[in-house]
Amino acid sequence: MGSRGALRDVSGARATGHRPTSGASSSSAGRGAASPSAGRAVVLAGRYALRAELGRGGCAVVYEAHDLRLGRLVALKMVKSNARDAQAHARLAREARAAAAIHHPNVCGLSDAGYLEDGRPYLVMERLHGETLTHCLHRLGRLTPTDAIDIALQLLSALDSAHALGVVHRDVKPDNVFLVPRSGCGPLVKLLDFGMCRRASATLRDDATLTRAGQVVGTPEYMSPEQVSGKRDFDARIDLYAVGVILYEALSGKRAFPGKDAREVVVSVLVRSLPPLRSICPDVPPALDRIVARAMERDASFRYSSAAEFQGDLLEAKAALNARRLRGIQTGRHAVDHGRTRQPPHHEGEWDEPTRQLRSSRRSA
Ligand SMILES: Nc1ncnc2c1ncn2[C@@H]1O[C@H](COP(=O)(O)OP(=O)(O)O)[C@@H](O)[C@H]1O
Ligand SMILES: [Mg+2]
Repeated sequence: MGSRGALRDVSGARATGHRPTSGASSSSAGRGAASPSAGRAVVLAGRYALRAELGRGGCAVVYEAHDLRLGRLVALKMVKSNARDAQAHARLAREARAAAAIHHPNVCGLSDAGYLEDGRPYLVMERLHGETLTHCLHRLGRLTPTDAIDIALQLLSALDSAHALGVVHRDVKPDNVFLVPRSGCGPLVKLLDFGMCRRASATLRDDATLTRAGQVVGTPEYMSPEQVSGKRDFDARIDLYAVGVILYEALSGKRAFPGKDAREVVVSVLVRSLPPLRSICPDVPPALDRIVARAMERDASFRYSSAAEFQGDLLEAKAALNARRLRGIQTGRHAVDHGRTRQPPHHEGEWDEPTRQLRSSRRSA
């Protein structure tokens, strides 16, 4: 969950583009943004009254805002006040275009976009309640195979729809995966932050992963070897690779490519021979171990070629887990029927523990 803090990036930001409506406070909306220090709500675009910071990444900050026109809460993302360079602006504009094009239940929905008076772009999204996958993993340590598969399946569904439009996300990582708790089932996954995305048709110069000096921008932990080594002809398989890295971390509770700084991580991504998942956590079924290993193949030609193919294997693994669980239940019933008690295999208890924690935290959320 993002930290809720002061509105430190909006002082001086005045917005244009929308006329205040009858629902808006005319004092603040009519004059654009009021000064936060004056104690009045900062209203952007004559419509969005900022409330608190929800989170921030490399060059943008996200606020909870009250949409005065529609009377609902939204999330408003803008470039940080100290990141006024053209590349940061281009990222947000690109994110707005991609998010507007993709309509998918697992992609955070966009409702508006525009420019502040000082030229900074902003975009308005649905306000999500829940936590990022990063936060969830900090809290739980690791996930059960079933929960990890469910999250990966939803993520792949979002990526499938982006890829079908020729959009490669390029920054799939736990910080950009938001989990919205639901009652009676696992969390709804929302993929965030298309700021680094690239259209398949884009020119190679339109590339924000690398600076001119050839340095990697962003978090290399989830980037594929071709991405960190600066190859510019990568494709949608880099997103599938990132899902593999996320699965590895979610199942094992350990970073796949640790390092004390970005440079060490890049070396790790390029040369580290990864311990098989089952050597760290023997409760991971061998089929799931093979799926993750295939998604994370260093050579892209050995990886899944599409999100749908990856989903197909995960669905099979999930069905096998369910069948195994069911067999356990039936065997248990059978044993009880005959007056014998049987303990479930040890690993099932382990799998259930993080799930129980996840469910109880969902209940308290
Ligand atoms: N729609 C949203 N609802 C609630 N919180 C959000 C929303 N979008 C982003 N956040 C929070 O803000 C953080 C940064 O958002 P993100 O779009 O990833 O920005 P950046 O491009 O700077 O990385 C996220 O990790 C999340 O905690
Ligand atoms: Mg982000």
